[in-house]
Amino acid sequence: MTALPPRRLSVAPMLDWTDTHYRYMARQITRHTWLYSEMINAGAIIHGDKDHFLKFNEGEQPVALQLGGSEPADLAQAAKAGEAYGYNEINLNCGCPSPRVQKGAFGACLMNETSLVADCLNAMQDAVRIPVTVKHRIGIDRQNEYAVVRDFVGTLSVQTACTTFIVHARNAWLDGLSPKENREVPPLKYDYVYRLKRDFPDLEIIINGGITANEAIAAHLEHVDGVMVGREAYHNPMVMREWDRLFYGGSEAPVGYADLVEKLFRYSRAHIRSGNGATLRHTARHYLGLMHGLKNARVWRRMLSDASLLKNNDGSLILEAWREVAKANGLD
Ligand SMILES: Cc1cc2nc3c(=O)[nH]c(=O)nc-3n(C[C@H](O)[C@H](O)[C@H](O)COP(=O)(O)O)c2cc1C
Repeated sequence: MTALPPRRLSVAPMLDWTDTHYRYMARQITRHTWLYSEMINAGAIIHGDKDHFLKFNEGEQPVALQLGGSEPADLAQAAKAGEAYGYNEINLNCGCPSPRVQKGAFGACLMNETSLVADCLNAMQDAVRIPVTVKHRIGIDRQNEYAVVRDFVGTLSVQTACTTFIVHARNAWLDGLSPKENREVPPLKYDYVYRLKRDFPDLEIIINGGITANEAIAAHLEHVDGVMVGREAYHNPMVMREWDRLFYGGSEAPVGYADLVEKLFRYSRAHIRSGNGATLRHTARHYLGLMHGLKNARVWRRMLSDASLLKNNDGSLILEAWREVAKANGLD
């Protein structure tokens, strides 16, 4: 790939959601947006099936690999493997509040261990030539002062070569909230992220959390370098249709529904034919939100999640479901 676009827009790492099949679809909708993998444990990459964890589709770039872990040597080895598979960036997760992750002493609790994070980032950066970045919160538990995130970023910017900080603009409450609640309950403080950009103008600061509409994205971009969108890009992928034009100065017409469906059909068929237990469900489960806002979106969802239909493992189901949507919206 030639020059990479800036990280003005990105799709957040989401466990079980932003796998290679989701990212293939996202890439048909937006050419320039950065896509992040699900978090993958460094140990799983080192000891497990690398192809399973790391392989992705041609044309998926720019794509970042997000790693979970807190063992510098393991993270370095996993980062190196990611670089060899063609990822354009390695991101360290310092924001995940899951109890399982806390037990392994990584994720959000790393925000209390800045020097360990520095060791991790340095080990990773020494092992690869692509950028190493970090995704974190603005604090953990009841740490409410701006100084917490300022010192975290400030220290890392001095002690490591990391210049890109992706900030989920709320705390992680490690005591008693589920991961889902931790994406909804702690209040969003966008002004903390704006302040980071003002205090560290030379760093690339990317804001994340609760951002859905294109107008909101444009407003945030007045204050920071980039916006990362998570759930909206998953539940309503066509929101990305305008991003190249609005945020990257692209002049190409946004992808049409019919063309996209055809591509997804062909992609799914090829996936099924690749064997090794590949199923239509692997790909189609990521397509459920695609018709969001159109008539018969529910029919589409129902057909593509119906176990008895999926069991046939025939990609034509995608075309059949599309015909229902196309008819209802006058798109056929
Ligand atoms: C299903 C799901 C899985 C997630 N998995 C990860 C993950 O693996 N790594 C990570 O850093 N954040 C993860 N997140 C958090 C998102 O990256 C993002 O920070 C969060 O959803 C807030 O952005 P949003 O409001 O735009 O969704 C996950 C979120 C969801 C909904």
